[in-house]
Amino acid sequence: MELIFASGNAHKIKELNDKSPGHIQVISMREKGFEGEIAEPGETLEENARIKADFIYDLFGENVFADDSGLEIEALDGAPGVFSARYAGPDCSFEDNNKKVLIELAGEENRRAHFRTVIHLILNGEHFSFEGAVNGTIIAQLKGTEGFGYDPIFLPEGHDRTFAEMSLAEKNSISHRAQAVEKLIHFLHSR
Ligand code: IMP
Repeated sequence: MELIFASGNAHKIKELNDKSPGHIQVISMREKGFEGEIAEPGETLEENARIKADFIYDLFGENVFADDSGLEIEALDGAPGVFSARYAGPDCSFEDNNKKVLIELAGEENRRAHFRTVIHLILNGEHFSFEGAVNGTIIAQLKGTEGFGYDPIFLPEGHDRTFAEMSLAEKNSISHRAQAVEKLIHFLHSR
């Protein structure tokens, strides 16, 4: 069975194909011939994941899933959340985003935050959703050079190193995205 991943991220697709059951082949929307970007006008990760899955389902009428992730900071009422990628502006860098968060949290005692991933699956016309989350705190300065995005300022609960100080394998053993993907794979195995 073919399952389209509504994403242009080749790395994510390879990772999923390595993990998914033999009878399911994950193919990217690029392989299906869709070269564009899908707008993400939603106000929540759930909405954006569903918008992306619906968009590709409307185009091809085939089984599809989409994911959306973000960092949600308690003292900032859940920001940057759905705006995580471009929090500091349209062409901002990861560093710009991290700096903006640190400035907004200056003097703030509540540093609690979590990363969250939502996956929306449309299988034989039915809708399913899977979530992964990891709790942690935002530290006061950047630490580590691995990973991407907010990894240098995120200290996962129960650990003494930021995501950016961990190897990819170590981060993947606890990350929000890995947890959501595990749930999706588990579900697919049962079908
Ligand atoms: P996406 O939905 O996976 O493309 O993630 C959207 C944005 O959330 C990214 O551009 C990052 O800014 C942030 N983000 C998501 N996952 C992570 C992570 O594992 N580490 C750091 N930042 C992340």
